[in-house]
Amino acid sequence: MSDLTITPVEGKTFGAVVTGVKLAQLSDATFERVHAAFLEHGFLVFPGQFLSEQDSVAFGQRFGELEFGGIPMSNQRRITEGSYGEIFDLQTQLMRTNIGNEAWHTDSTYKPISSKCAMLSAVTVPDEGGETELADARAAYAALDEETKRKIAHLSAYHSTQYSQANDIGDFPVQSEKSVYHGEAYLRPLVKVHPETGVKNLFVGRHAFGIPGLSRAESRALLKSLVEFIVSDPTRVYVHHWRPGDTLLWDNRALLHRARPYDYGKPRVLIGTRVAGDPASELAYYPTDPEAEAGRQALSAELKLLREETQDRMFGATTAAVPL
Ligand SMILES: [Fe+2]
Repeated sequence: MSDLTITPVEGKTFGAVVTGVKLAQLSDATFERVHAAFLEHGFLVFPGQFLSEQDSVAFGQRFGELEFGGIPMSNQRRITEGSYGEIFDLQTQLMRTNIGNEAWHTDSTYKPISSKCAMLSAVTVPDEGGETELADARAAYAALDEETKRKIAHLSAYHSTQYSQANDIGDFPVQSEKSVYHGEAYLRPLVKVHPETGVKNLFVGRHAFGIPGLSRAESRALLKSLVEFIVSDPTRVYVHHWRPGDTLLWDNRALLHRARPYDYGKPRVLIGTRVAGDPASELAYYPTDPEAEAGRQALSAELKLLREETQDRMFGATTAAVPL
């Protein structure tokens, strides 16, 4: 008999802590219960798992095809599993990308297919800071006034992490088809209907810009106000204070999340795994599709403006007020 216990997080609209289970040795029957809890609660915390890179891959694959699996999300160079070398300089693209993720987002909305879910497993964590925060975009949608619901019902926004890096921290990575900085922008609805639960949520975050049909100022103001609304109620925000061995799993189709700053000179190693979305519900279009051209042009025009506007914004717009 399984000791699986699922305890909803107290005082929050979402989330649960799961104990009495070993994710590295999960029966199909137990996985079904974990999966149902994931859909219901939006995120799950599994304390004391100490998953290896391979365990992370295997657990992630139970949810679907991986974008990547068992990859250190770290400020340190990986030598071998469990062994890490020098701490990366803040000037590296990797650290700029990490710091960009200190603004609210959902993963991979800047790819043709956005992400289904993601998980992190803690190996080494700093004493202070470096938390992961999650926000409930489902409860936020449900709490919106009817006028706003009507206003946004048929609106979409482009998603690009070239936009978010530029807008949030004045970072303009080298554009390349092979990287996430690929010059494409993907149009996605502001109101997402969850493909498995049917529950609506606000699908916004740092990568979203350029709502067609709205002026640039209106679009920026609306997107900002929706994110602010989601996180304005403390019952919709959960702060995860990491302990080594924790695994955190969240639904990218229903929640926003962000990293929190820490002393970047101290080691922080989390093992990251990201599951791709189902193309039936998470595919916008491919770069070769005719509709991709409008996104490409919208991004190019937006980046041109941001190049002029963000001269003084280097790292200033995130929570990480780190002088460079
Ligand atoms: Fe993320």
